[in-house]
Amino acid sequence: MAFLQGFESVVRQGEPLAMHTWFQIGGPAEYFAEPDSPEQLTALIRRCHEEGVRVRVLGRGSNLLARDEGVKGMILHVIHPALGGIRIEGRTLIAGGGALLGRVVTTAVHRGLAGLESLIGIPGTVGGALHGNAGARSGGIGQWTIQATVVSALGEVFQRQADELVFGYRESNLDDLVILEASCQLEEDDPQELARRMQKQWILKKAAQPLGHQCAGCIFKNPPGISAGELIDAAGLKGTRIGGAVVSDRHANFILAEPECTSEDVLRLIDFVREQVLDRRGIELELEIEIW
Ligand code: EPU
Repeated sequence: MAFLQGFESVVRQGEPLAMHTWFQIGGPAEYFAEPDSPEQLTALIRRCHEEGVRVRVLGRGSNLLARDEGVKGMILHVIHPALGGIRIEGRTLIAGGGALLGRVVTTAVHRGLAGLESLIGIPGTVGGALHGNAGARSGGIGQWTIQATVVSALGEVFQRQADELVFGYRESNLDDLVILEASCQLEEDDPQELARRMQKQWILKKAAQPLGHQCAGCIFKNPPGISAGELIDAAGLKGTRIGGAVVSDRHANFILAEPECTSEDVLRLIDFVREQVLDRRGIELELEIEIW
């Protein structure tokens, strides 16, 4: 680890990614670091860049499948409280990229700031949510975002203003390596009314989705005009199993990892579901989750 001189206290070797993903499966990371400040995070990125080591960023691992053979290079786990603060200035909520989206949503609601309440129940961090414009039917986090502070793969820090930010369905142009901080401009509303809306959303979500199981949210993006879950369900694939991976009975766009499940099982089930939907409906499903 000579190339990581000075970072020994934050870098581990061979850390099992199964401990850091919602699927709870996946092999080891070659290098795994949990930086405790923005300065340490950027310094580590610069060092990896100088040494030609690829860096990937991990939040809460809720939209991710890590392969059984593990991942080469450096995994930066953005989890330290110093990278996940939340503060409010007027109608603007400012959150660190490592802040839990759920905490951001409840903080906004309690402070009487409307906009984010429909995002309740979405796991993961603000950084992950912005990267993929996480959202519900009513839209994603991007529509409220007016500024982001990011770190490039070279370790340079930039500000991205509203006019540079582009958000689409489960995608954004925030493809910089790390999202350090983001600002959302919200609307004033009655906190009690907002809490009611948030609770309603939460109840609907819990009824429709297998929350609390070992899974990674929706596996596929919705093709234009139709729900991927509905397509997979109509193809009769609920309950389909390969090894320890099973298509959820509650929502067909979720794959559950049962005990003894491997990443290979999930990958084979993903391929099977894709083939079946293509054969029966002529529609090619695109992955929403990231595969490492
Ligand atoms: N449906 C079925 N069978 C199923 C699942 C759904 O017939 O197994 C039907 C439902 O009955 C409904 C329609 O499909 O008529 C749509 O279902 P749902 O309301 O559950 O929405 P979705 O399009 O499947 C999207 C997002 C979810 C988000 C929900 C609610 C995607 C890929 N999925 O699901 O996001 O929580 O709307 O806002 O965009 C995620 O992205 O990881 C995710 C879970």
